[in-house]
Amino acid sequence: MEYKMIAPEHSEQVMEHLRRNFFADEPLNKAAGLCQNGSSCPALEAHCAEAIQHRMSVMAVDAKEKDTLKIVGVVLNGILKPGDTAKALSKLDCNDDADFRKIFDLLHRHNLKHNLFEHFDVDCMFDVRILSVDSCYRGQGIANELVKRSVAVAKKNGFRLLKADATGIFSQKIFRSHGFEVFSEQPYSKYTDENGKVILPVVAPHIKLQQLYKAICADDQDEKKQSL
Ligand code: ACO
Repeated sequence: MEYKMIAPEHSEQVMEHLRRNFFADEPLNKAAGLCQNGSSCPALEAHCAEAIQHRMSVMAVDAKEKDTLKIVGVVLNGILKPGDTAKALSKLDCNDDADFRKIFDLLHRHNLKHNLFEHFDVDCMFDVRILSVDSCYRGQGIANELVKRSVAVAKKNGFRLLKADATGIFSQKIFRSHGFEVFSEQPYSKYTDENGKVILPVVAPHIKLQQLYKAICADDQDEKKQSL
């Protein structure tokens, strides 16, 4: 396996990977019925494309495939600034994809309520947004390696804080094994409409959203810069 930084010119291949492995598989997308495996989802693609522009995302490529760029895993990372989440939430009303709105309404409101910027007094964060591995390549440690490399990219770029909204039990385990800690949680059974109906019937073993963070101390960054 080879690991490479994702550049904007890889966007279409990354989207193709996500259409086949993330859009229908991720626990919240699945619960919302966001899209069929392999089909496109313009709202989610715009969200992913925005992250790629930050040039801090990483892909795993099958090195055995010599003639093509065979992407088998990606982690899409972006820079998050104070005010970005409130702006994204206000733009959500204009989005005509009701299933996308259900998912991002949960994520954005949760992040506004449990405000990492205020708690850690930072003016930007390294935001791990999308973690996805090809279903034929799962269970080989690829997601683990993508998260490890994301932490390295964050350190190299001088970030003091990383965050991730992990939606499933396995991604939560992966982030925690790389030193992320739980800042807040939201059980899916408590995300209900005005009649008490669960909005996203997420299937077990995934039972809650975890907002995770990893603080990077200054010593850690100095050490990293010297070794570059
Ligand atoms: N069953 C049991 N354990 C699992 C499973 C599973 N289905 N998937 C991962 N794990 C465990 C592994 O045992 C391993 O534990 P270990 O480090 O103690 O050995 C750990 O999780 C990491 O496993 P990897 O092999 O690195 O994970 P993988 O490459 O299979 O990718 C992922 C895991 C990304 C969750 C993949 O299943 C996937 O793409 N799922 C669909 C999309 C998704 O849910 N993404 C995460 C959403 S949250 C976000 O994007 C920020």
